[in-house]
Amino acid sequence: MNTDDQTTTTYDIELIPGDGIGPEVVDAALPLIRAVADDHGLAFDITRRDWGTEYYLEQGEMMPEDGVSQLAAADAIFLGAVGHPTVPDHVTLHGLLLPIRKGLDQYVCKRPNVLFEGIETPLQGYDAGDIDFVVYRENTEGEYADIGGREHRGLDHETAVQSALFTREGTERIVRAAFEAATERDGHLTSVTKSNAQAHSMVFWDDIVEEVSEEYPTVTVERLLVDAASMDLIRRPHEFDVVVASNLFGDILTDIGAQITGSMGLAPSGNIHPGDENPSMFEPVHGSAPDIVGDGLANPLATVLSWSMLLEDVGEKTAANALWDAVTNQLADGAAPRTPDLGGDATTEAVVDDLQSRL
Ligand code: NAD
Ligand code: IPM
Ligand code: MN
Repeated sequence: MNTDDQTTTTYDIELIPGDGIGPEVVDAALPLIRAVADDHGLAFDITRRDWGTEYYLEQGEMMPEDGVSQLAAADAIFLGAVGHPTVPDHVTLHGLLLPIRKGLDQYVCKRPNVLFEGIETPLQGYDAGDIDFVVYRENTEGEYADIGGREHRGLDHETAVQSALFTREGTERIVRAAFEAATERDGHLTSVTKSNAQAHSMVFWDDIVEEVSEEYPTVTVERLLVDAASMDLIRRPHEFDVVVASNLFGDILTDIGAQITGSMGLAPSGNIHPGDENPSMFEPVHGSAPDIVGDGLANPLATVLSWSMLLEDVGEKTAANALWDAVTNQLADGAAPRTPDLGGDATTEAVVDDLQSRL
């Protein structure tokens, strides 16, 4: 961050549009993001990285070997999406997205789930605001630990081992972050595990939730098994406030969260490193959506809301609100353009153009 004589504050942003609809939504949103910045005396110095599957097909790697350290000095990172039908997903995701989350120790994956006015949920009887919860997903270890291997390939006794990693530090810090969030929201925390079947790691998680809860006497704590939580997010989503879960469970629950609040195309996400040492990275929850790529119909709102989260994270709350409010305002307007995932027939561009007029 850098403030010059005219008091324009400039932020260094690393931009990784990535694959599929990633570049479509990222590029469509950029003029809007710049306009909001301008309105608030801000500027973005953006370094664009052409990393992703095309880069991989040319260079044999998804990003340069020192890619993560190239990002480390930025104020924040924005990522579109990663994944392409021509290359196996474990190669592309382990080559770009996951090493950034881990390498920059972005241990809080924060995913808000809000039912906006004007949005229809597939659940009956829910109106705007009835669903409003945030998932705090552990983002650097758990089931996503890269520990395991394949042995005896091709033989009858071929074997695969994939171990999950739960450390005390890793678990405590995400649980504590979720409790902190609960104190600033409605004071209710739901911890999601599978302790009935996974008696080591998940009982360890439960024990840590119990310990940390003693520091937060005003927060009510509910424990749910992940199967029941999946059911209850559909049966009684209005009762959730802050949800804390391991890496894999948080991933799955946030797709449910996106769908019950209208669309994957509306769900924003932050991979947050809470300290000052490293930048955080913001991205829509959705992937590269190969089924709609090139049609110009991808919903850009998850991207716009993720930029709002970025602005909030760097301390620009007013600009963050301006962006969030423009989206809220557009969604509440029955005459505004909508992409097909929200029941309309508008293009990505048309949605962004309309947002510009609402700033
Ligand atoms: P996806 O999120 O890409 O798509 C799921 C469904 O939601 C599709 O029908 C898609 O058309 C729709 N959708 C997603 N975003 C949308 C938007 N902005 N507007 C309108 N509709 C939208 O998930 P998938 O199909 O399971 O995965 C596709 C690829 O993306 C895979 O390679 C996967 O590994 C990858 N992926 C990447 C990320 C990421 O980069 N963060 C996240 C999820 C999946
Ligand atoms: C997400 C995605 C990623 C995840 C994949 C693409 C590795 O699904 O960000 O939700 O599981 O974290
Ligand atoms: Mn996911």
